[in-house]
Formats: sequence, structure tokens, C-alpha cells
Amino acid sequence: MSGDRIEALQVDITRLAVDAIVNAANSSLLGGGGVDGAIHRAAGPDLLAECAALGGCPTGEARITRGYRLPARHVIHTVGPVWRGGGAGEPDLLASCYRRSLTLATDCGVASIAFPAISCGIYGYPVDAATAIAVREVRDFLEVEPQIERVIFACFGSDVLDAYRRALAD
Ligand code: AR6
Repeated sequence: MSGDRIEALQVDITRLAVDAIVNAANSSLLGGGGVDGAIHRAAGPDLLAECAALGGCPTGEARITRGYRLPARHVIHTVGPVWRGGGAGEPDLLASCYRRSLTLATDCGVASIAFPAISCGIYGYPVDAATAIAVREVRDFLEVEPQIERVIFACFGSDVLDAYRRALAD
């Protein structure tokens, strides 16, 4: 069972001392607002320098860096889709963000990982649809990957927390 390894918490992701936190980045990987801005502020300028050397990241894919001043050891930067109404491949791209992040985490020896609600802020993805995809992808991955011991859905607001709780109860 994967259920006891997954939880949703209302918490600032930059405070979590896990092996990896996931950043909801943009394809430049050069920082931005939202959780991306918070992660770069907390990690310090060395994170931006490492990101600049990566040369960007396509939507639906992921890249890994060190965590620098963060309590987390690594940052996995993934680029969620901008919501355009749902007919532009958004669900598959969002699912890919979770799968690619978890695959990269596993390859790098990560056992604990925290995700923000990718695409649910500036990129405008409907929260219930996004959290259902996040929970499905994480559950499916954990079923076949015992190395990941703990997954936290880090929620900034209570609306997102409530959506995760509903999705996890399904
Ligand atoms: N901890 C946890 N969750 C947070 C935090 C935090 N410190 N800060 C915000 N959130 P967003 P997106 C939540 O907009 O929609 C950036 O400019 C937030 O409330 O950060 O994927 C990038 O550079 C929301 O629920 O990411 C891209 O250009 C969720 O994190 C663009 O925004 C995601 O909101 C990406 O947009």
C-alpha cells in the first residue's frame, strides 16, 4: 500500500527538511514568482547559478539541483502546463511533471520528497483536477517504487489542502 507514505500538509515548502522539494518552475529555470520565487529566495544565489547552467527545461520534464541554503538537500525543478482550457494536453503534461520528478528523485537516491501544487497558482490549473492527477500519479509510482518512503503535498492555502484531502480520501 502507498497510502501511509503520502500526506497533505499546510506548510511553506521551503521549510521542509526532506531529501528533495519540487519547484513549480518555468521553462527558463531562471526563477519567477510564487513558489519558485520563494525557493530561490530561501536557497540563495547559488541556486540560480546552477539553474542557469542547465539551459532550461521543457514543459512536463524535470531537472535536479542542490538545495544550497534550504533545509532540503535537492531541488527538483519541473515545469507545469499553463491552463488553456484543458484541450491542449494539460492533463498529460501535468501527470508527466509528477512522474519525471519522481523518477529523477529515485535515480538520485531520494527517499522523502515534497511537491507544491504544480500549475495551481500563476498557471491557473483548476485545483480539483490538478490534485486528482497528482494523487493518482504519486500513488501509481509508489506502488512500484519502494525507495520513496514519504511524499508530502505541501499546500499554501486551505483550498488546496482541502482538495488534496478529498483526493486522498478517494
Ligand atoms: N510553499 C508551498 N506552496 C506554495 C508556496 C510555498 N512557499 N508559495 C506558493 N505556493 P505557483 P504555477 C503554492 O504560482 O502555477 C512562477 O513564476 C501556490 O499557492 O507558484 O506552476 C514560475 O516561475 C499554488 O497553490 O506555480 C512560473 O512562471 C502552488 O504553490 C509560474 O509561476 C503553485 O503556484 C508557475 O506557475
